[in-house]
Amino acid sequence: MIELIIDGMAASVPAGTSIMQAARTVGVDIAKLCATDSLTSFGSCRLCIVQVEGRRGLPASCTTPVESGMVVRTQTPQVARIRRNVMELYISDHPLDCLTCAANGDCELQDMAGAVGLREVRYGMDGANHLAAVKDESNPYFTFDPAKCIVCSRCVRACDEIQGTFALSITDRGFASKVTAGIDEGFLASECVSCGACVQACPTATLIEKTVVDAGQPERTVKTTCAYCGVGCSFEAQLKGNEVVRMVPSADGGANEGHSCVKGRFAWGYATHHDRILRPMIREQITDAWRAVSWDEAIAFTAGKFTELQRRYGRDAIGGVSSSRCTNEEVYVVQKMIRAAFGTNNIDTCARVCHSPTGYGLKQTFGTAAGTQDFKSVAHADVIVVIGANPTDAHPVFGSRLKRRLRQGAKLIVIDPRRIDLVRSPHIRAAHHLQLRPGTNVAVINAMAHVIVTEGLVDSAFVDARCDARSFEQWKAFIAQPEQSPEATAACTGVPAAEVRAAARLYATGGNAAIYYGLGVTEHSQGSTMVLGIANLAMVAGQIGRDGTGVNPLRGQNNVQGSCDMGSFPHELPGYRHISDDATRHLFEQAWHVALDPEPGLRIPNMLALALTGQFRGMFIQGEDLAQSDPNTRHVTAALSAMECVVVQDLFLNETARYAHVFLPGTAFLEKDGTFTNAERRINRVRPVTPPRTGLAEWEAVCRLSTAMGYPMHYDSAAAIMDEIAALTPTFSGVSFAYLDQVGSVQWPCTADRPLGTRIMHEEQFVRGRGRFLVTQYVPTDERSTRRYPLLLTTGRILSQYNVGTATRRTANTVWHQEDVLEIHPHDAEVRGIGDGDGVLLQSRKGDITLHARVSDRVPEGVVYTTFHHPDNAANVVTTEYSDWATNCPEYKVTAVEVHPVD
Ligand code: SF4
Ligand code: SF4
Ligand code: SF4
Ligand code: FES
Repeated sequence: MIELIIDGMAASVPAGTSIMQAARTVGVDIAKLCATDSLTSFGSCRLCIVQVEGRRGLPASCTTPVESGMVVRTQTPQVARIRRNVMELYISDHPLDCLTCAANGDCELQDMAGAVGLREVRYGMDGANHLAAVKDESNPYFTFDPAKCIVCSRCVRACDEIQGTFALSITDRGFASKVTAGIDEGFLASECVSCGACVQACPTATLIEKTVVDAGQPERTVKTTCAYCGVGCSFEAQLKGNEVVRMVPSADGGANEGHSCVKGRFAWGYATHHDRILRPMIREQITDAWRAVSWDEAIAFTAGKFTELQRRYGRDAIGGVSSSRCTNEEVYVVQKMIRAAFGTNNIDTCARVCHSPTGYGLKQTFGTAAGTQDFKSVAHADVIVVIGANPTDAHPVFGSRLKRRLRQGAKLIVIDPRRIDLVRSPHIRAAHHLQLRPGTNVAVINAMAHVIVTEGLVDSAFVDARCDARSFEQWKAFIAQPEQSPEATAACTGVPAAEVRAAARLYATGGNAAIYYGLGVTEHSQGSTMVLGIANLAMVAGQIGRDGTGVNPLRGQNNVQGSCDMGSFPHELPGYRHISDDATRHLFEQAWHVALDPEPGLRIPNMLALALTGQFRGMFIQGEDLAQSDPNTRHVTAALSAMECVVVQDLFLNETARYAHVFLPGTAFLEKDGTFTNAERRINRVRPVTPPRTGLAEWEAVCRLSTAMGYPMHYDSAAAIMDEIAALTPTFSGVSFAYLDQVGSVQWPCTADRPLGTRIMHEEQFVRGRGRFLVTQYVPTDERSTRRYPLLLTTGRILSQYNVGTATRRTANTVWHQEDVLEIHPHDAEVRGIGDGDGVLLQSRKGDITLHARVSDRVPEGVVYTTFHHPDNAANVVTTEYSDWATNCPEYKVTAVEVHPVD
């Protein structure tokens, strides 16, 4: 600690602290413009000058570190005069339109002019100035008005340090210095990804949200959580009346710490889009027109239909799907209604089509179905392995955090058929890119483990102390076989053996190594095997149980972790406890006052298959677009058409609603009261920013339906639902709305002995006791390229869009992505006569779609790639019925296809 005197007060701060920060500890706020807490100080504005006894000149307090015995004066006549002069120069080249400026009342330049006592500007406006500089309005969400720019470079540093995109720079010198996006092409055309970090950092109205320009400064703030991806960023919704004016990422948000991406920051307008359905609707046949009715009529109609179907076809003829977009509380009541009111365990969730193998694989090996670390942990990783994930597009705020660590020197291994941005981006180069053939994940992970075992790189101390010895010996005998070696598998994986060996050595010996993976791991016929393989690798190298290590699934949807935690699987009650376990079932039977079926119910694919045979007749679908998001669309729509009562609870008439008999209007995240659980197991509060536009919370609608079906369900509030969850689920035992409001957020397990939750799992021992190795035999998928379908299609996401695009397509995010395109390697394109931008027909044995080609060497020869955000392109028309052997998660990532040019 360094002791010094500031304005006569004693301060004691750690070495390396700036004078500006030290002053704040004794209650002195020094005037500043170019410095801000979230960025490295730059020392350009000279407003923060101070006097240091015994030193010549006036140093900038933001860049001058404290020294022992320093005596600092932050206010002297000389300092005050120079600060006023600095401000005077700034203001002499600034439009004096404060009263009509959109930032009036929220402008640091204005504040500082007041703080330094600026009373007059002696220089006229008739000299050279920047006042006629032209505004850049190209970005759909914010404007850039260079006339107001003070060239403090906060925006440039925010883009570099926080977002990691390096889209901005200060070009030219001296008086001509200016902020430039890209190669002076405007924000929209530049590399800018519209994260908003620069807008937030800007102290003036130069970079400002268009919504603020239109509506004026907000009046009140409600803290809530983004409803897009599994990062779970915290935001302050800023409002005027009941109208959201802007969303500002919370500096104290556990997952995002003040950062955001374009979706959470700007793409919330869908919540008030005119397409939203706000009244319940019913119809007898799916060919009839919809009829808007009261909530009472819609509930009575639905209950009557479902009851009649059960009377005619049996209890198990109906079931439901819960949504990973909805809150924990909304999901909990849906699974409770299905188990208690429907009397069946036919409840499944959309995690079936994304991360169900994660649940299975991590539970088998570690004992718990969740990621092991918090996001902050990546700052301690020396080696980062990204497998089948594209964090800069799909989990952007975590992607920025990860890039920051890579710029600090951590090594990167990417295992992916496609060259994702991380492989090569500003200041980042992957040490190894294992560009494997789609469908060969397990062979690659086995080969890496083979290298570790056969080259003597096993962390024996960890394995002996923490893992099950018998399972290790069995696995070791398997993995050491020559067939698992990089050399033996190279022909099938397409990855050179030397690359695999080098990557394995780096993972085992490069310091702390962390694995982050996505749907490129799970959405395969061996998705669960691959998760087991990843867990085996982490255990054998001792890369788990401490900061900077671990196995981390990057969850796709905002609450996919929560929907799984809440008992949405047909075999599991909340907290991942098997329905056949008598003690658990009795606990719920006593609490719910109802007998529960001890047999697991149907999964989504089983429900759909039985619908086609007439055994399954009715489905309650909460916020999930099966007709677009599930594989083999024709099969799905045939099954939905065959049912007699399909209920869709959603914001919009989605593709599935075409086959529905009842539409119950859902609430947007801005209207919800509850919690989401993100990929770090972090339970975040979702607070109602505006009242439900439908007149009813979603959980209330479900409770009414349950009651109408003969099982009365009533809660006074969403908080009461969480109280019931906490009472029945040991890992949630310490959670309540009041507690979350007090502490911000917690990562489960949150229990009496861990009241603040658990940042890192399996620190002392695995949840299941000893870590279990499982043999992961590579079995090639049955989906292979053939002479007729010689290419392999794999799918993914793009930053500006979200899943099937229901929300993001109803925002200005469409400027970045108007349609899904097909990436195809130049060689494959050339032999087929396909040019960039040409229309192509994509055919698989399941169906065909047309889209435009993008010729790109991001994909290797033999592989094509597309996204699935647009119903017009309907990528799932071509995906197949193959699925993971353990969980039925569809094999979205491998489809044999052929591509032809079309007019
Ligand atoms: S745009 Fe804003 S943050 Fe960037 S240099 Fe200008 S005033 Fe500073
Ligand atoms: S919005 Fe984000 S990516 Fe774009 S320039 Fe600003 S900080 Fe950079
Ligand atoms: S990273 Fe995910 S949670 Fe965060 S703002 Fe973007 S979409 Fe929302
Ligand atoms: S705030 Fe220190 S030089 Fe600008």
